[in-house]
Amino acid sequence: MIKHAQQVALGEDTSGPAASAGPAASDEHIAPAPRVSVQAFCETVETAATVQAASEDRRLAKAHIKIQMGGVAAAVEAYRGAPTPNVIIIETENRAGEILTGLDRLAEVCDAGTRVIVIGRINDVTLYRELTRRGVSEYLIAPVGTIDFVRAICGLFSAPDAKPVGRILAVVGAKGGVGASTIAHNVAFAIARDLALDSVVTDLDLAFGTAGLDYNQDPPQGIADAVFSPDRIDTAFIDRLLSKCTEHLSLLAAPATLDRVYDFGADAFDAILDALRSSIPCVVLDVPHQWAGWTKRLLVSADDILVVAGPDLANLRNAKNMVDLLRASRPNDHRPFYCLNQVGVPKRPEITPADFAKALEDPPLAVIPFEPQLFGTAANNGQMIAEVAASHKTAEMFRQIAQVLTGRTEAKTARGGLMPLLSKFIKKAG
Ligand SMILES: Nc1ncnc2c1ncn2[C@@H]1O[C@H](COP(=O)(O)OP(=O)(O)OP(=O)(O)O)[C@@H](O)[C@H]1O
Ligand SMILES: [Mg+2]
Repeated sequence: MIKHAQQVALGEDTSGPAASAGPAASDEHIAPAPRVSVQAFCETVETAATVQAASEDRRLAKAHIKIQMGGVAAAVEAYRGAPTPNVIIIETENRAGEILTGLDRLAEVCDAGTRVIVIGRINDVTLYRELTRRGVSEYLIAPVGTIDFVRAICGLFSAPDAKPVGRILAVVGAKGGVGASTIAHNVAFAIARDLALDSVVTDLDLAFGTAGLDYNQDPPQGIADAVFSPDRIDTAFIDRLLSKCTEHLSLLAAPATLDRVYDFGADAFDAILDALRSSIPCVVLDVPHQWAGWTKRLLVSADDILVVAGPDLANLRNAKNMVDLLRASRPNDHRPFYCLNQVGVPKRPEITPADFAKALEDPPLAVIPFEPQLFGTAANNGQMIAEVAASHKTAEMFRQIAQVLTGRTEAKTARGGLMPLLSKFIKKAG
């Protein structure tokens, strides 16, 4: 079982379709755009359709995007008597001279501060210089892909010299008790220790979360202080709520008390995640097994998703439903990863990784064996698997999952034959 598990973890499983790369490579990181207004004036239905598709991308969820036809002439007409939005997108099929004349007319009716993106057909450096001189923020050459639009709009609002903003990795179970939290905590530990990436584990199971127990922490403050004081949230406030677990790992702990109930609106965690994202390179969300407005929103808006499933039929059905829904809601992203956990319980009939691979059209990222002694010891001691048994295969798996999810390879744990295979997999998955 374990041998097979390792093979799957290393991407060698040939039983299912190969891990497919999504349209957005996992090492490309596009920070979401803030609440801005965008108006596109298109000339072709193809471009209008692409802008429409981009407007449905998770990274533009907060932006208000309106699309109309008519190009620059329609834009000039529209803004003669109306204020301009934050961003205007102009598509033009014209030649260079006409493009510049059109933009000069637009400039007369454009409010200061409005950014302009032009989509044209002409690939010419002189035109490009003239556009830059006129203050055009971006010139894209048609045909433009959905993700190019997303990147162009989001790029306007993240300063080029800004620190790389944080990636959000959401970990969720296909069923309760499958080990989603354990995996989230161990993977975060590996990201922080082996990849030296500053990370925060956010325990979103406010009533019953175990991150505090698993990291042997009992902080007086945590996520509840933030989610119940939305007006106070900023980076400094969130920083004070974090408890430090290791050099690079901090915890935003759940209270795990029942004196209040935890019903949240869909956007309850938006401000907290924005604050974390602006200062922490890697945010690991321990998402409880629930299907509510806020859990769905956290999953859809995460940069990467790891669904943890046990090897039974209910897990298979639920994992498939989750992966299908998330793929459909995130057409411009890498598909959600999933892994199997607690595999190989003696005498238990189980659904095989190959069956999962077939149903989910993707092999599992890892198949983690059922190891009650190891996991039980770690849980009861408030330790990670790597602390209980650093050289155990399972500790190595968590390191490998960390690498794939962060799109990184690292030298520190490179051991013999594992790395070439692993890096091959990362390239495939990336
Ligand atoms: N591979 C494994 N082998 C043996 N025990 C495991 C394994 N993975 C997790 N466990 C144990 O399973 C139990 C449940 O794990 P965990 O709390 O992480 O699950 P969960 O999916 O987050 O559950 P919940 O739905 O309550 O949030 C824990 O006691 C944990 O130590
Ligand atoms: Mg949990």
